[in-house]
Amino acid sequence: MNSPDHFNASSNGIRRVTILGSTGSIGQSTVDLLVRNREGFEVEALTANRNPQRLAEQARMLRARFAAVADRACYAELKEALAGTGIEVGCGADALVEAAERPADWVMAGIVGAAGLKSTLAAIRRGAIVAFANKEVLVCAGSLVMQEVVRHGATLLPVDSEHNAIWQCFDFARTDAIEKIILTASGGPFRERSLEEMREVTPEQAVAHPNWRMGAKISVDSATMMNKGLELIEAHHLFRLPADRIDIVVHPQSIIHSAVAYRDGSVLAQLGSPDMRTPIAYALAWPERIETPTKRLDLAAIGRLTFEPPDERRFPALRVAREALGRGGGCPTVLNAANETAVHAFLDGRIGFLDIVETVERTLEAISEGPLESLDDVYNFDRIARDTAAGLSRLRSTAATTAGMGLR
Ligand SMILES: NC(=O)c1ccc[n+]([C@@H]2O[C@H](COP(=O)([O-])OP(=O)(O)OC[C@H]3O[C@@H](n4cnc5c(N)ncnc54)[C@H](OP(=O)(O)O)[C@@H]3O)[C@@H](O)[C@H]2O)c1
Repeated sequence: MNSPDHFNASSNGIRRVTILGSTGSIGQSTVDLLVRNREGFEVEALTANRNPQRLAEQARMLRARFAAVADRACYAELKEALAGTGIEVGCGADALVEAAERPADWVMAGIVGAAGLKSTLAAIRRGAIVAFANKEVLVCAGSLVMQEVVRHGATLLPVDSEHNAIWQCFDFARTDAIEKIILTASGGPFRERSLEEMREVTPEQAVAHPNWRMGAKISVDSATMMNKGLELIEAHHLFRLPADRIDIVVHPQSIIHSAVAYRDGSVLAQLGSPDMRTPIAYALAWPERIETPTKRLDLAAIGRLTFEPPDERRFPALRVAREALGRGGGCPTVLNAANETAVHAFLDGRIGFLDIVETVERTLEAISEGPLESLDDVYNFDRIARDTAAGLSRLRSTAATTAGMGLR
């Protein structure tokens, strides 16, 4: 991450903003903040995958200059919805890259999954300030992305609530005084469930997070705790710390969003209600702060904050992610791609909940390790991992169909 001198607002003091993934949970929270703070911001571009109606509505409301859908089949609907507004429209992967390349000071990387890699890199390569929610991009290509950040003088601002909390507490001028960082984890909806109980959970139960309202994929990642594994890798790249200086503690109330421990024994933490508008607002206005409607914290009303170690027997994803980071090279890329594939298979009802991390681990075992030296390496590992994980998911799904759910 860079120092605040990289800040580069437009000369009129108004920050020009682009949101990649504006129709998602992070995107909508960002739009909400822009609507509440219209005088400080103008909107260059908005993107979606296949939700042209919501995208068009946002583009009209925020008077965006450009709106693009990734899925070409949605282009006609977007074009019609924005006819006569003067808002330019585009579709396909190139249009998302165009959205990122257009001259915005600040770009929200809010797409879910490795699908956000190309457009996020496009924003980085023109030296933009990139508010980083899309953790999968750092998991699948972390060292290459960080090299590009340095090469092009871009600025990464962490949006994930844990990394945003660490950013707020991290003394970048005295990193030698930092012993470790502590990522908090809610433990997800199945924190107290046995393995037997988790075997039977449905997608509807898995996406019902107790504290946060988020997109389906990250909600399932929270339930398996792979989300914390992905965040460990994300934190390793953002804060340039080895994995053994990144602790994880389960904190079910999601009030302490993460902490930094210093060598004199001090621990600095950031607290707040579980609402992504606070970390997004911090990144959006940085280095200033803007007003948000987030529920204010009432510690006396909360009463008790509790902590416990993660249970890696019931939630093996943490160990699997830590091992993938330790092995390095293409392993984190494989981890991420296999996880995306398995989560989709689970959401589609093709595999069971416990099969998700099992599939990721088997995929990592099946693919030979190798270095990650270029984006071509990223795409190769990503493709092989998706094919392998899809094959493993099919096997599990066939086994379940022939012998009933009990086989798994
Ligand atoms: N939600 C949270 O509270 C939260 C917190 C911390 C970090 N994050 C991270 O932020 C990212 C976004 O999460 P989310 O919860 O906002 O996800 P989400 O609600 O599923 O939204 C994802 C966004 O990406 C777009 N998208 C999906 N697939 C795409 C593709 N193949 N190409 C281009 N665009 C695509 C979606 O468009 P459509 O609407 O058209 O499908 C939508 O705009 C994830 O990496 C997540 O881990 C989220």
